[in-house]
Amino acid sequence: MRLDGKVAIITGAAAGIGEACCDVFAAAGAAIVVADYDEAGAHMVARRLADKGASAVSIAVDVSDEQACADMVALAVKRFGGLDCAVNNAGIAHTPTPIQEIDVALWQRVWEVDALGVALCLKHEIPALLKRGGGSIVNIASGAGTHGARHMGAYVAAKHAAVGITRTAAIELAPHRIRVNAVCPGLIATARNNQNLPTGMKWSDLVSNPTGRLGEPHEVANMALWLASDRSTFVNGEAIAIDGGKYLS
Ligand SMILES: NC(=O)c1ccc[n+]([C@@H]2O[C@H](COP(=O)([O-])OP(=O)(O)OC[C@H]3O[C@@H](n4cnc5c(N)ncnc54)[C@H](O)[C@@H]3O)[C@@H](O)[C@H]2O)c1
Repeated sequence: MRLDGKVAIITGAAAGIGEACCDVFAAAGAAIVVADYDEAGAHMVARRLADKGASAVSIAVDVSDEQACADMVALAVKRFGGLDCAVNNAGIAHTPTPIQEIDVALWQRVWEVDALGVALCLKHEIPALLKRGGGSIVNIASGAGTHGARHMGAYVAAKHAAVGITRTAAIELAPHRIRVNAVCPGLIATARNNQNLPTGMKWSDLVSNPTGRLGEPHEVANMALWLASDRSTFVNGEAIAIDGGKYLS
């Protein structure tokens, strides 16, 4: 799967799944806009990619800020001449909390990043893809975008919205040769998850899929690459689980 000559924006790219997407997309030949709230982290990832011979530039972006999303797309156009694909991956979760105890500020912030953030990225990426005559957008949602999850109400609501906007964008943009899909990971072994593991617990205590292990960030990134590439040209509007078969029984 190659992306030679293609330009990709990856948000939430300073760590975890987004960073893995940067590695996989750069290895496939894409030029990358490394976008993250964490400016220093994004800069380090872009420098690491450039050291390996890839074309990469970083930008500080809060995806809940519309002007920042516009600037991110403008950078892709200015630096690399256009935009062909995007992985809208930036997202936040929250401490498990019963619905009746989630305060309004938490509802709002999770909504702003995980739902509005995807919508704002789409809003500014779509015109650039239209100018290019086609492309592919991958939104990183979650199993929480297609199923409920105890005590994760704000996250579940926002991720369901991300899947909904994916399906709607897929309908609207298909006539313009732009595909839009979502990826729905289960638990993935990112540094953030490893740091937040409750003391005395092992991941094997929490894993609830038949493989008995967590996913790895590169396994999600490989799915995003496939969706961005021309190996998936008839796949559109899907919300693809990548969770080891968590919901099979
Ligand atoms: N790790 C998992 O188990 C898992 C499971 C399902 C879905 N996901 C989803 O995958 C995506 C990536 O998760 P991860 O585990 O790699 O997270 P992570 O916390 O390791 O990395 C997320 C990155 O996003 C950045 N970010 C956070 N808020 C931002 C904002 N407002 N604007 C721009 N950047 C922002 C952070 O700085 C960080 O670099 C998220 O959307 C998450 O909901 C993760």
